[in-house]
Amino acid sequence: MSVSQEEQRSGVYQAHFRVWRGDEHAGDLADYTVEVHEGEVVLDIVHRLQATQAPDLAVRWNCKAGKCGSCSAEINGRPRLMCMTRMSVFDRTETITITPMRAFPVVRDLVTDVSFNYTKAREIPSFVPPAELAPGEYRMQQEDVGRSQEFRKCIECFLCQDTCHVVRDHEENKAAFAGPRFLMRIAELDMHPLDAAPDSGIDRKATAQDEHGLGYCNITKCCTEVCPEHIKITDNALIPLKERAADRKYDPLVWLGNKIRRRGE
Ligand code: SF4
Ligand code: SF4
Ligand code: FES
Repeated sequence: MSVSQEEQRSGVYQAHFRVWRGDEHAGDLADYTVEVHEGEVVLDIVHRLQATQAPDLAVRWNCKAGKCGSCSAEINGRPRLMCMTRMSVFDRTETITITPMRAFPVVRDLVTDVSFNYTKAREIPSFVPPAELAPGEYRMQQEDVGRSQEFRKCIECFLCQDTCHVVRDHEENKAAFAGPRFLMRIAELDMHPLDAAPDSGIDRKATAQDEHGLGYCNITKCCTEVCPEHIKITDNALIPLKERAADRKYDPLVWLGNKIRRRGE
């Protein structure tokens, strides 16, 4: 499709899209030509498509500001937020393909069932308040606050979960692997100086390894590359967690403790 001089001048042009349509049983890419206006994002085009040609097209969105994490999809095969992907990053003559996140089951069209993530979230014990301190008495070094602040920017778009090769095409790994978002959550809690989990018998490093599949991660950094909040998931959460888990494993006192515990069983 070529772009006319009038289209070049006005900033309004016709673009070609291929959008995945279907449900959990079957589906295919459908071709559409949709008008694009200057400054628009992919979600604008999906809305225009709904308004003009495909009123039954299913799409999940909420804020249109990159904050609710609900408009995740794959655009030309790359996991992205539709509301934060400007049309100007594509060549005007290019066909743009929009498909649902591949790692999760399709509900309909661009909407996927992301309940895998909520299941994993529930499996991680939350922050354990220190028994000796009342709320309001918690004190932390600014450095510790700053470290976990980055992780708390997560908008739970699950694009990192979608792109991680451990589960992307391996449904069989889902039971044993929490994915980057939730390993990051464990890392955040494990580096929290006031988390009293160890006092209540929770070893976050051990559970990351044994129950949440930290060992499956081979630090490819694909999760970091797609994070719309630019969180350095691999460098700042996963690698440090791996290092602390390894330290723990090879700590002679931990080794001795485990040995004694096993003898007593
Ligand atoms: S760095 Fe680890 S968690 Fe992130 S995409 Fe690669 S394997 Fe998955
Ligand atoms: S870590 Fe980034 S990519 Fe992953 S769910 Fe959070 S915001 Fe999305
Ligand atoms: S609609 Fe909220 S992040 Fe895109």
